[in-house]
Amino acid sequence: MTRETTPDSATPAPMLDLEALETSFDLIAPQGDLLMDTFYARLFEAAPSVRPLFPTDMATQKTMLLGALVLLRKSLRDLDAIVPKLRDLGARHVAYGAVPEHYPVVGSALIGAMAEVAGSAWRSTYADAWERAFGIVAGAMLEGAELASLEAAAA
Ligand code: HEM
Repeated sequence: MTRETTPDSATPAPMLDLEALETSFDLIAPQGDLLMDTFYARLFEAAPSVRPLFPTDMATQKTMLLGALVLLRKSLRDLDAIVPKLRDLGARHVAYGAVPEHYPVVGSALIGAMAEVAGSAWRSTYADAWERAFGIVAGAMLEGAELASLEAAAA
């Protein structure tokens, strides 16, 4: 008899290409600083209006984002475990001035930066895998953001 698996959340995680995610991240991770420089350069070029939301000195910011990506890399096989952290992160982003429309811009700047840093080792399967993973991360962050906005409106 085949057993139906019952998702324990209303939005079950779509299948992630774990191998592609892990291989590609590990390829780029030794160049984490370059990845951050490339990502923010791409982000501020694509969306100059978000530059003022960030501090002038981006050093700490780059370290924090890289840390978040490393945590994500370690958690890929159990994303549910970091969903509460992602919701809290998304809630904090409301105060930073991040709005839902910014998320796809951040996603393509990040994936574009990964491809640039990886160079000829990059594969289109990596981009597809990261699109999907980023969608889950952004989705969880935006859930937290929505909740924070509702709470702020009710206060
Ligand atoms: C995958 C999506 C994202 C991740 C993983 C991420 C990660 C982070 C992390 C780890 C921090 C450090 C502060 C904290 O932990 O609260 C941060 C700060 C920040 N993020 Fe994001 N972020 C994401 C999306 C966005 C988007 C879409 C925007 C919109 C422009 C944004 C703008 C900012 C700003 C303005 C700060 C604060 C800078 C400061 O005042 O120090 N982030 N982000």
